Amino acid sequence: MATIGLFYGSSLGNTETVAEKISDLLTGHTVEMHDISSTDKSVFEEYDYLIMGIPTWDYGQIQSDWEEFWVELGNIDFNGKLVALFGLGDQFGYADYFLDAMGMLHDVVLEQGGAVIGYWPVDGYEFEASKALTDDKSEFVGLAIDEDCQPELTEERVQAWVEQIVDEFDF
Ligand SMILES: Cc1cc2nc3c(=O)[nH]c(=O)nc-3n(C[C@H](O)[C@H](O)[C@H](O)COP(=O)(O)O)c2cc1C
Repeated sequence: MATIGLFYGSSLGNTETVAEKISDLLTGHTVEMHDISSTDKSVFEEYDYLIMGIPTWDYGQIQSDWEEFWVELGNIDFNGKLVALFGLGDQFGYADYFLDAMGMLHDVVLEQGGAVIGYWPVDGYEFEASKALTDDKSEFVGLAIDEDCQPELTEERVQAWVEQIVDEFDF
């Protein structure tokens, strides 16, 4: 049994709802949820296993609570930590910026020494461009959720991804 820190920011509640689903499915593990709007850097340091959720807003921008935290985020030492990311976006409404913020979060975690798990295939999504892709563009750098266009797929995606990260965290 491991303790996992789950950090999320959410403007309209979608990312928070997905965070709760992920937490509920991680049965047998302790999940401590932290809204990024009321978290500081020291809280991150308590965990070796982290999950971070971020929606993209305003044409490829970081969600506002994450944006306020961004400087502090860049000072966190992620060495020795395993991080799984999930992002929310709208693939039809913002097809040129789909999930960009998750890609930016991924860059920071890697720059700060973290290891990222939980990459997710792009099959089943339609978009033009995203900063949240792996180099070969075959995967997103974390779970991709679209509550605007594909809400009916959220449950099965979350379930499959939680199984995947439990395996990859290798507690
Ligand atoms: C004004 C506005 C701008 C948005 N910009 C983007 C965007 O650039 N890229 C994207 O993938 N999704 C974009 N979205 C979709 C949101 O990321 C999506 O609705 C998400 O579920 C919101 O999550 P939240 O409720 O946790 O804030 C935008 C939504 C709105 C209303």
